Amino acid sequence: MNIGALEEHYKLELLPLYEGDEAKALFRLAAEQVLALSSGKLMIQKDEEISFVNLQKLLSILNDLQIGKPIQHILEEAHFYGLVFKVNENVLIPRPETEELVEWMISVCSSQLPVGEYKILDIGTGSGCIPITLKKHLPNADVSTLDISGKAIAVAKQNASQISVEINFMEADILTYQSKEKFDMIVSNPPYIRDLEKMEMHDNVLQHEPHLALFVSDENPLIFYKAIADFALSNLKPNGQLFFEINEYLGKETVDMLSDKGFTNIELRKDMQGKDRMVRAEV
Ligand SMILES: C[S@@+](CC[C@H](N)C(=O)[O-])C[C@H]1O[C@@H](n2cnc3c(N)ncnc32)[C@H](O)[C@@H]1O
Repeated sequence: MNIGALEEHYKLELLPLYEGDEAKALFRLAAEQVLALSSGKLMIQKDEEISFVNLQKLLSILNDLQIGKPIQHILEEAHFYGLVFKVNENVLIPRPETEELVEWMISVCSSQLPVGEYKILDIGTGSGCIPITLKKHLPNADVSTLDISGKAIAVAKQNASQISVEINFMEADILTYQSKEKFDMIVSNPPYIRDLEKMEMHDNVLQHEPHLALFVSDENPLIFYKAIADFALSNLKPNGQLFFEINEYLGKETVDMLSDKGFTNIELRKDMQGKDRMVRAEV
């Protein structure tokens, strides 16, 4: 079978789950890794025959896609802000909206923070996409990160080493964590999806991504935001800044909570899809 025929086969077989363009994009990601070809080469070499071994690999990936496994878990990698991160079932797959949060932080750090060293803490490490990307782009920053999941930290440590950045990792529960360290910036993309929102979610997220990373109760959906805000009040330096990725439905509640706790200059931003998604606040 040649590349073009297998792409068509992917499109047909994935039709119940993915639209034509999505299926093509999935094929490209799979073929780029298995055939070690750039997407440009894949487009122009559609007549090239695929070896038996590679065909078996690509058909096995197709099988995994058909049972709803996310492509990033199948290929064990995800792209984030121009970097490649190892991912598995223990970490959230990095999302484009989180790239927007990181972009915001990098622009604030570049324009507002001193040229010398400054300290950043990320809460809820996951794959390490936030702290590792920040460190890569802000080499003067002293970056720390914590997660309650030792398995997530193990993945993030591998990513830090692969991307050649130094990060301080801590295994800790932010609901009880205390420290005397002071930071210039604290950032978090904590769990924020309420149980009531599970209905809106795709099966491949519900079945394959860690629930520890995603869900909060309907009764106390801001539990992590409140705990992190309290931590920030005692652990941010004067004029220090707090950045959150937030639940699109809870923008006002998050802003009100921060304002009630005494944060100032609170700014709520939308993501590229026009949804309330990020907040910045100062102490
Ligand atoms: C939404 S994920 C974000 C992961 C990563 N920062 C990203 O943006 O892709 C939330 C992370 O918070 C971690 N987490 C959940 N409960 C926690 C707790 N009580 N203390 C610290 N981390 C926690 C999860 O293990 C998960 O890695």
